[in-house]
Parts: sequence; structure tokens; C-alpha cells
Amino acid sequence: MSGNRAAVQPAEVELVALRAAAFEAMDNAYAPYSGFRVGCALRGADGSVHPGCNVENAAYPAGICAERGAVLGAVARGIRDFDLLVLATDGDEPTPPCGQCRQVLVEFAPALPIVSYTRAGRSGRWTLADLLPHPFTPLSLSQKHE
Ligand code: THU
Repeated sequence: MSGNRAAVQPAEVELVALRAAAFEAMDNAYAPYSGFRVGCALRGADGSVHPGCNVENAAYPAGICAERGAVLGAVARGIRDFDLLVLATDGDEPTPPCGQCRQVLVEFAPALPIVSYTRAGRSGRWTLADLLPHPFTPLSLSQKHE
């Protein structure tokens, strides 16, 4: 799985198209309740790009984050290996994925590099391993203790 490789920071040139795709997805976000729009572009190890945006709901907990939307779309297309996630928000500070999204991402890409942008051009960079140390993974299920 490509996500198990040591994370390599992406070059600026790789980020240009993914950043544009993430902002395009952000423009489609449905966030009438929080007013906080998020878009993302999740790159498959095969180079495919899977967009996501947050989709809120009048029944608030039924809403879903951009990152999980992207993972679901990719998996439905048969893609389970990911090597880069680019986020776009209209916040003032670059934001990392929330806790639930970190957990969903770690299933497929434990060392995933993540770059987050604001409209104003600020950016933050992390790896999923930084953001979610000591994760619960498929391996955890097979480790039975006496
Ligand atoms: N949100 C995301 O889409 N991704 C994250 O990682 C953090 C939060 C969304 C959920 C909700 O629609 C809005 O941002 C405010 O929390």
C-alpha cells in the first residue's frame, strides 16, 4: 500500500492542479449551517483525483466532511491507495482534517501527506502519521491479548 511508505513532501508543481480541484470542490460545498466550506482533492496512487466537499444536513449529525466524501467516492471507484490529500477552506487559518476523517483516512493511507490552503494563500502541511499517532488500524483487530 503506497500509504505505508515514508511520507514524502509533495513538490509545488504537483500541488497546482490538486489545489485548483480542492477549491473547485469547495465552491460546491453545502454548508448553510456552519458557513464553513471545505473542499478537497484526494490523489490515488494511480494518479486519479477524487474530489470531496462538506455536505451538511438539517439533521446536523447527518452532515459529512469533505475528506470522508472523497474517500467514499474513491473507494466506490475501486481506488484504495492514496498518496496525497489537498484541502481548501474559506477559513483564516489552514485547517487539518477532523478526528473522524483522520480515522477514516488512516485505514487506507497511514502516512498520507496533507496540504491545506486558505483562499488568502496560507498553507499548512502535515502527515497523517503526525496528526494521528498510535492509530487504531486493521492490524489492531488482529492483535489479541491474553
Ligand atoms: N469539516 C470538513 O469538511 N472537514 C474537516 O476536516 C473539518 C470540518 C466540515 C464539517 C462541517 O460541515 C463544517 O466543516 C464545520 O465543522
